[in-house]
Amino acid sequence: MDRIANQSGTSGETASGDVRVWDAGVRLFHWLLVIFVAGAALSGFFGPKNWLDFHLWAGYAAAALIAFRLVWGLTGATHARFSSFPPSLAGVRAHLSGKHAAGYGHNPLGALMVYALLAIIVALALTGLWTLGGVVRQGPLAALSSYASGRTAKEIHEFLAWGVIGLVALHLGGVIFESRREKENLARAMVTGLKRPRPDSTPKRAARPVVATLALLGLAAATFAIVSWADRLPAPFIPSGPVLAEWKAECGDCHTPHHPSLLPAASWEKIMATLDDHFGEDASLDAGAMENIRDWLVANAAGHYDTRAANSFRQPDAAEPLRITATARWKRIHDDVPAETFKRKDIGGPVNCAACHGDAESGLFAPQKINIPKPPKESS
Ligand code: HEC
Ligand code: HEC
Repeated sequence: MDRIANQSGTSGETASGDVRVWDAGVRLFHWLLVIFVAGAALSGFFGPKNWLDFHLWAGYAAAALIAFRLVWGLTGATHARFSSFPPSLAGVRAHLSGKHAAGYGHNPLGALMVYALLAIIVALALTGLWTLGGVVRQGPLAALSSYASGRTAKEIHEFLAWGVIGLVALHLGGVIFESRREKENLARAMVTGLKRPRPDSTPKRAARPVVATLALLGLAAATFAIVSWADRLPAPFIPSGPVLAEWKAECGDCHTPHHPSLLPAASWEKIMATLDDHFGEDASLDAGAMENIRDWLVANAAGHYDTRAANSFRQPDAAEPLRITATARWKRIHDDVPAETFKRKDIGGPVNCAACHGDAESGLFAPQKINIPKPPKESS
């Protein structure tokens, strides 16, 4: 029977003589973090673009867990406290030379690993938010970042993602090594919280769950306030608001109406000046409609925006400056989409962005809105 003497989790002894080392907070944190980091890594490395929301929620959850752990490091029971495992190079040297007697808590090398993992996950969350804001143009940093800085953040984010995989591999190696050395299954100890009795001089500290809860509520309120403030910042470089009805009606007659941010002003001028021979079709309009649409397209051309789409297509192909789909970037982005898919009748060619992009008309091209429709059943 698991009779735990000390409810606050400070090294209470059980009937079997084992000692409660890891409190519920540390154990829940540890295993939930495994799940969320694995979810974020798998969706980030292998998930299709439209799994972005899953990736984001795994990342937010991991970040919230880290916030909890930082608070719990100051308010948890004995071995949860940062003060019980301070980062110490002298300790690491003693540990490596075998002079350090294993106590209950993290050994000095394990302690460094804990801080490294906490730090790299904080850095992943920050660079992830920055990538989301700058490249995808969503989230609290959308108005505060630029596409160029988002690209840099994305590179750092990917580098850190490999870093976290490396650290986890080292961590697993360390757990296996120390488990053998101490002849105690340390992974199991992180599940049960229990370890065999041994000498340990760590000062006993009771957990302070009420203080921890108040601190976390305060952090949540501060986060909410900052995010709502950031949400209200103007971001004129991200398309928003209504589109010109005339454009939608006239230019959406034969294909998806292409948002003005997808081509530079010079391309729109040329397209609008040659509507009588528009890619082999006669798309001419009366002069008034033509001028209205032209002026709106030019006023909202790629140069006015800082989205991924505007940055990708603002440099048109020299030979075919009227086509978005002729740019090297458009082709590279759509590399993985088979040519047969574009040829499908229900899609109607690359020109029909809206067949696969639920938000094509807005010019945003959010990853979450990408969906190649299932081919319709052949009817004979
Ligand atoms: C009568 C039908 C028709 C109308 C109306 C029409 N287009 Fe087109 N448009 C086409 C065809 C056909 C193509 C070539 C499609 C292809 O090659 O797959 C095209 C291609 C385009 C492309 C190049 C797409 C790419 O990147 O490959 C742009 C940009 C474009 N149209 C803009 C406009 C604008 C702006 C208007 C409104 C003023 C308009 N179109 C109205 C038929 C039309
Ligand atoms: C047959 C479906 C299909 C059509 C049609 C299509 N796309 Fe895409 N598009 C995709 C897919 C799939 C992706 C994601 C590619 C990847 O996984 O990297 C994508 C990605 C993109 C992205 C990058 C989104 C991001 O942030 O990752 C942009 C921008 C884009 N497309 C623009 C266009 C434009 C503009 C058109 C029309 C001229 C168009 N696409 C037509 C399927 C399509």
